[in-house]
Amino acid sequence: MSTVKKAVIPAAGLGTRFLPVTKSMPKEMLPIIDVPVIHYVVKEALASGIDDIIIITGRGKRSIEDYFDDAPELEMHLGNSGKEEYLRMVREISSLVDLHYIRQKEPLGLGHAVLQAEKHISGEPFAVLLGDDIIKNSEPCTKQLIDIHGRKGCSVIAVEDVPQDMVSSYGIIDGKPVEPSLCVLKDIVEKPPVHEAPSTMGAIGRYVFNPEIFDCLKEIPKGVGGELQLTDAIRLLKGRQDVYAYSFRGRRYDTGSAMGYLEAIIDFALDKEYLHDDLMEFMRRKVGR
Ligand code: G1P
Repeated sequence: MSTVKKAVIPAAGLGTRFLPVTKSMPKEMLPIIDVPVIHYVVKEALASGIDDIIIITGRGKRSIEDYFDDAPELEMHLGNSGKEEYLRMVREISSLVDLHYIRQKEPLGLGHAVLQAEKHISGEPFAVLLGDDIIKNSEPCTKQLIDIHGRKGCSVIAVEDVPQDMVSSYGIIDGKPVEPSLCVLKDIVEKPPVHEAPSTMGAIGRYVFNPEIFDCLKEIPKGVGGELQLTDAIRLLKGRQDVYAYSFRGRRYDTGSAMGYLEAIIDFALDKEYLHDDLMEFMRRKVGR
């Protein structure tokens, strides 16, 4: 039985890769048709057995709180006009889970964002899910990590092989294989130039940590980009206790990149019966077949 019940979802980033739309809208609220990206992230946490979620927000992120909150006027309107299906959908969102919000006052990096949750985590192991990765799989990625944490009692990060030209956008690991799909971490480097990278295995935005990660976050100096990097804290942690890297099962969409976002929309649209055939027909026409 796993003891990981809390999760942190950092959602304070500025979303510069998606400007100008992210000037007035959080990147985590970008819609995959009719559902914002962060909804999928919260649902992954829930499906993994998490029942307490801390979202780290920043300036301009109020719409995330509004999205998961009750909406009495909207609900009254939907009830009065007999739109029961929509009413059920809206109510379900606000009853999903116990959500807490902590505001990161300055954008000092992912490591700094995670550190904001220390008090709330109160010495327990916890999961971190980055707010713009969606991972599709019957067994949620976070659940896969929690199971490994349960078996090994160690922090574990999800990794996947990334293309050479993307290596400098990820935390890249060096690992010693110990089981199929599982390595003990030998090193991890944040956004290395490709010729200096220890491999092409990148950390993809799902982690389960022992609480000692907070001590590490407090000890590291500023790293790449002048920010406090979670990767640097993991590097420090792995010198004090084993940390594992796991090649998770599932299809990841990096919705923080234009292509990943588009792929997610198309994939989720194809899952919808009412869109599938029309979308296929549109794409056939587009490619002239
Ligand atoms: C962050 C992490 C990086 C990780 C990546 C996954 O970078 O710092 O180690 O590989 O997320 O998406 P960011 O994409 O926020 O620049």
